[in-house]
Formats: sequence, structure tokens, C-alpha cells
Amino acid sequence: MKTGSSREFHAIQEKNRALSSENEQLRKIYEIGNTLRAERNIDKLLPLIMVEISKFLDADRATLFLVDLERRQLWTKFAEGMGEDRIYIGLKMGIVGACVLTGKLINVASAYEDPYFNTEIDLQTGFHTESVLCAPIFNSGKEVTGALELLTKRTGVFTAQDEQKVMKTAAKLAKIDFSSPADEKRAKSQVYVLRKALNCERCALFMLDRDKGELRSIIAEKIQGWNIQLSLNLGIAGLIAVTGQDLIIPDAYADPRFDKTVDERTGYITRCILGVPLKNQIGEIIGVIEVMNKNKGIFTGSDLELLKSLSSFIAIFIENALLFEEHNKQFKSMIEVLAASIDAKDTMTAGHSQKVAEYSIGIARTLGFGDEEMDILGVAAMLHDLGKLGTDDHILKKPGQLTQMEFEHIKEHVNHTRNILNKMSFMLKYRKVPIVASSHHERLDGTGYPDGLRGNQIPFMARILAAADVFEALTTNRHYRDAMPVEEAFRILDEGKGSKFDENVVKALKVYYSSQLAA
Ligand SMILES: [Fe+2]
Repeated sequence: MKTGSSREFHAIQEKNRALSSENEQLRKIYEIGNTLRAERNIDKLLPLIMVEISKFLDADRATLFLVDLERRQLWTKFAEGMGEDRIYIGLKMGIVGACVLTGKLINVASAYEDPYFNTEIDLQTGFHTESVLCAPIFNSGKEVTGALELLTKRTGVFTAQDEQKVMKTAAKLAKIDFSSPADEKRAKSQVYVLRKALNCERCALFMLDRDKGELRSIIAEKIQGWNIQLSLNLGIAGLIAVTGQDLIIPDAYADPRFDKTVDERTGYITRCILGVPLKNQIGEIIGVIEVMNKNKGIFTGSDLELLKSLSSFIAIFIENALLFEEHNKQFKSMIEVLAASIDAKDTMTAGHSQKVAEYSIGIARTLGFGDEEMDILGVAAMLHDLGKLGTDDHILKKPGQLTQMEFEHIKEHVNHTRNILNKMSFMLKYRKVPIVASSHHERLDGTGYPDGLRGNQIPFMARILAAADVFEALTTNRHYRDAMPVEEAFRILDEGKGSKFDENVVKALKVYYSSQLAA
């Protein structure tokens, strides 16, 4: 009785321990989520993920590769010990390589839509591959020794029946000794029979050369005198990216799929690897996470489960960061297009906005502004004269002095700038852009326009723009006068210190300008 209840007590204790360790893991996952959510810059996010995962799984190093479909590559940025070098791994081993590496049959309806299809052979031969059916060839020891590939079925795509047929032929080919010419001839005729039966355009037979790490073509039909050799040297990350499978490698150097070149280059010694694919919300593979060298022992099934549960939301953060980066690029290119449209209006002042942006950012940096503020200022500077699109050409380009009415018309450009920018939707930090950009003619003593703001009423960033704008205008040619020497322009700014222009801003502009001359 006593032993019974003590056994029960131990069972409950054991259960509690398991529960609290699960809770602890959940808490850690939640914390990692919070850390990663705050970072939108992809270059900062990737190293952060690696550090968090290494800590979480008690591993020596984590690596994160992202799939670059356009370049058919995996790329990464290492956090530790690799400096700023990115490592690129080719994905060009193609569908045959994937078939040999995984030992699985691959049926692709449209080769060019498959990210791992190697277009190089088509490019060199002038063929256009459509569908691909590829079966692995095994030896009696169940090792993959090659692959049989059928290309471009003339009627539709390869069916389940076709798959059966190609597997059967592949099984027959496994028994063939390619060192005997008679056997090789027999093999070729079997492959041709199969090609006819499946009604395909071409076929190919590859054998794996393990020593060289290459696939050698035995048959590459209609590619005369051309031996295809495909490198299999792309390592575990490439394999995970191609197949979407998880992998636990207890001893990397004993695994023929492991690519030693990165270790050779860096002096790092990989012992064991745990790797999972990163999939986006529609199940496409966007990258691979690898964790190397567990500090005690090797990676287990429960490590794999933990990494998988982490990887699903890491993928979301990465997608968000990539999307954000994409938005930013679009936004910046839109700003450049708008600035170019102002330049197109008046070739004499072309480049004015870029130059004002450069001076403004220079002033801000000298005054110790942060990256975010410099970004806002750059955008506001590029767009400050956007309203000039609405100014009459003959007034804008008038060589002589303006009449009062003409000057009033020119002054309207800041209202146009404000109206246009207010209609654009600026995200987050950029919401200040319309007001900053359209206040660049305000002056400290209230004599500026459009609102006649005074002193601190004028946003500080607009005070920077004001000085940068006047300095740029004075030191370049205008329709009504030639460019002024820099010293004279500074003298005018100095005269306006405190009344028109902010004293610290003018000082910072001088510091920035002379630092540029020295450089
Ligand atoms: Fe202006």
C-alpha cells in the first residue's frame, strides 16, 4: 500500500517535471518571438535569429540560408566568425541531382516553374524542357548509383502509370554492368524503348561518380559529343532547400552529402548538424536553418521538434522583413521618380533636390541625429520643391527680377508641395514628411511662408532644409544670376543667423562642407 502510493507520488512528480520543462520551453519560444518581432531590417534580423537559436538549442553555431530564386542560390550572412562575408551556394545541380541525393522519384509538370531546374543545359543545347520525370537507380546495397530522366512528354504531363514504368526500367538498369559494352548497349535500348512508350522528346541516363562527387551522363540523347557532368557539391543546406526535408546528421564528416568547403575556408569543424526548411505561408521553401555542434552529445528528435516549432514563426518574421525591405525599395524608387520629375521641369536647377538632401543629411549627421531622422530628412529634401510642378514655366525660368505678382505665384509652390504630399500615404516615421518638406521657406523671425511660423514653431528638420536649400541655390547657377562663391553664400547665411536661419544648423553646415572638402 505504502509502496503503491509512493509510486503514484513519483509518477505525479515526474509529470510535473515534464510539464514545467515544457512550460519553460514555451516561455523561451515566446521570448524569442518578442525579440524577433521588433526587428524589421533583414540584415539585422538574420544574425539575431542565429544567436537566439544557438542559445535555445545549446548549439555552437546556427546558420540561416535564404533561397534566392532569381539567382538559383542559397545565401546567408554569418553572425559569428565570418565577418561580413555572405556565403552563396549554387542550387544548379538540377532535378537529376535532387533525385540522386534524395533517392526519390521526381515528377515535375513544368520544369521552368521548378526553382531547382537547371536551365544551363537547355541554354547550351537549344532545347526547351517542359515536363521532367526522374527516377533513382539503386545498387543491391540500396545505395543510389544513378538516375534515369525522361524529358518533355509530348501529350500532357507524366502520369502515375508513367512513374511505375520508369521505376521498373530503373530497377532493370541497376543490374547492368556499364563496364561491358554489350551491357551498355542493352541498357540504352531499354531506355529508348521506354522513351517511345512514354512518348517523350528526350531521355538521359546518369551514373553517380561518388569519388568525384559528380553525375556522368551515359545517355544524353540528341546532345552529341557532349558529356554532362553535374556537381553534387552543395551540401546539406542545398539538399534541405531542394527536398524540403528535415535532417539530423550525427557525424558530418562521415556523411557523403556534407560539403566540407565552408569548413575548409573558415577553419571551423562541423561535427553534427540539425537542419529544417523554412516555409512561407503557402508552403514554398524560402530558406533553411542549420544548427551545428550541440555542446553536449548530438541532436535528438526533440531538438528537431523544437527547431521545427521555432522555424514556422521565424519564417513569418523573415517574410515580414523581406516584404518591408521590398516596400522600402519601392518607396525610395518612387521618391527618386518624383525628384526626377522636378528636375525635368527645369534643367537649370536639375539635381537641386539631391544636393539639398545631401547637405541636409550632412547637417543632421553633424548634429548627431539618428538614422531614422536622417531618413525622414532625406525624403523631405528630395520632395521639398515638388509643388514647382504647378508653377508657370515662364515665371520659373524668368531671367530678370520678378514682379510682386510673379513672386506671389512662385511662393505658392510650398502650398502645392503640401497638398500633393498630404494626398500621398506616408507610412510610420515618414508621416512628418509633408509638413517638414512644405515648411522649407519658413524663417525664424516669422517673415517666411506659407504660415509665417516663428522660432520653435518651425519643425527643426525644416530649419535644416531651409539652410541647405538656400546654400545650394546660392552656390549654383540660376536663370537670374550666376553661382556665388561659397564664402559669399556662407556670409549671407551668417547674416541671417538667429533671424532667418538656425545658428546651430548654419554651424553644422559649415562643419559638414569643410569635412567634404578635406575628404
Ligand atoms: Fe522652395
